[in-house]
Amino acid sequence: MDGSVLGINPDAAPNNLDPYWMPFTWNRQFKKDPMLLVRAEGIHYTSVEGRQILDGTAGLWCVNAGHRRERIVRAVQQTVEHLDYAPSFQVGHPLPFELAQRVLQLLPGGYDHVFFCNSGSEAVDSALKIALAYHRVRGDAARTRLIGRARGYHGTGFGGISVGGIVKNRMFWGPLLNGVDHLPDTHDLAHNAFTRGMPEHGAHFADELEKICALHDPSTIAAVIVEPVAGSTGVLIPPKGYLQRLREICDRHGILLIFDEVITGFGRLGTGFATEYFGVEPDLITCAKGLTNGTIPMGGVIARRGIYDAFMDWADATGNTIELFHGYTYTGHPVAAAAGLATLEVYKEEGLFQRCAELAPYWEEQLHGLKGTRHVIDLRNLGLIAGIELEPRPGAPGKRAYEAFRRAFDAGLLIRVTGDIVALSPPLIVDKPDIDRMFETVRDVLQQID
Ligand SMILES: Cc1ncc(COP(=O)(O)O)c(C=O)c1O
Repeated sequence: MDGSVLGINPDAAPNNLDPYWMPFTWNRQFKKDPMLLVRAEGIHYTSVEGRQILDGTAGLWCVNAGHRRERIVRAVQQTVEHLDYAPSFQVGHPLPFELAQRVLQLLPGGYDHVFFCNSGSEAVDSALKIALAYHRVRGDAARTRLIGRARGYHGTGFGGISVGGIVKNRMFWGPLLNGVDHLPDTHDLAHNAFTRGMPEHGAHFADELEKICALHDPSTIAAVIVEPVAGSTGVLIPPKGYLQRLREICDRHGILLIFDEVITGFGRLGTGFATEYFGVEPDLITCAKGLTNGTIPMGGVIARRGIYDAFMDWADATGNTIELFHGYTYTGHPVAAAAGLATLEVYKEEGLFQRCAELAPYWEEQLHGLKGTRHVIDLRNLGLIAGIELEPRPGAPGKRAYEAFRRAFDAGLLIRVTGDIVALSPPLIVDKPDIDRMFETVRDVLQQID
């Protein structure tokens, strides 16, 4: 790359790391001993030292088609030269309209509109707002409560952290949203450790929703939001029947069900979305990440038939012209929408969702070959997702996994750790030798560390 455009050499380490306040990072450790990535191609990064690093995590669960795909790069380049920006309120440009149609083609027939935003966090906040407003425009304004789940991750907006279930992401920010309650998480090592795929035990965790309904009266509850597979809190696979049961309870009480598919959308389980994989249709689906292959930030909320119409009916009945008082300067940004269109073409042309489904059994087999490896107390998988739970060091939770992360990076593999759980979610273009290398590296690293 010609660094003169930037006025710096993008392949060199910056001379001062200090001014940048890094997100969700041990800043001082990083700045003492940085791990800098400067290039990417296929399923590899190149570090600033020129080392090849196998991308075991598709970046942050987003680069599903692998890095620097030519079609996506060209779409971004050509679009920015053609239309760098257009306002998104009261005027439009063609690309998000096209993209919305293509996204809907990846879903069962019951979905008919897509709202765009810029990230998973915004998608979650948008979905929660749409859910609340939906009840209100239908004259059911008492439905204001939102139900999330312990160990849920829904990004870092105030809505997302309120329904989320990670204490450190919540405890610093005061009372958060009012009227939020939480389901228990579904993690049950005692019954389900080393399960391949979906655990048999645990559909009953969904029944807690009935108890929450009884406590608050269901007529006060607007929506329940869950990740179909919880990723960021350590790969929690839903027990068989659990999501169906949540759907039934929501239906019984007129509550909207939201699936946060920010990581499960766009092929991660071998289907377009997890809703198809599990055969459970929520009312709203959030997405981001794989929508543009991580190339340009973009998120979205997909609405089931009837939701958009409720807003149109309300506007007609009340004489409003704007039907939804929500949006962003960059909603449907042309460059992001172009990246999205090109990304969906790559997924389709290369059959990447199918490829994921075909590789999943091999992935499962190789992962479960780690059983008996030092420190490993559970192995979990679905699609091309793996969770490796480690026994925490006494009095030092998270330290063992962090050390594994650092050593894996030095050994040429990028993994992701949450607490003492290692998560792997490679680009869907991964092949069997890459998979072997990933699990061999993890095994070696775990044997080396205390
Ligand atoms: C399920 C889920 N929801 C929301 C988000 C937030 O997305 P973003 O970081 O793009 O705001 C994430 C990010 O990992 C996620 O995994």
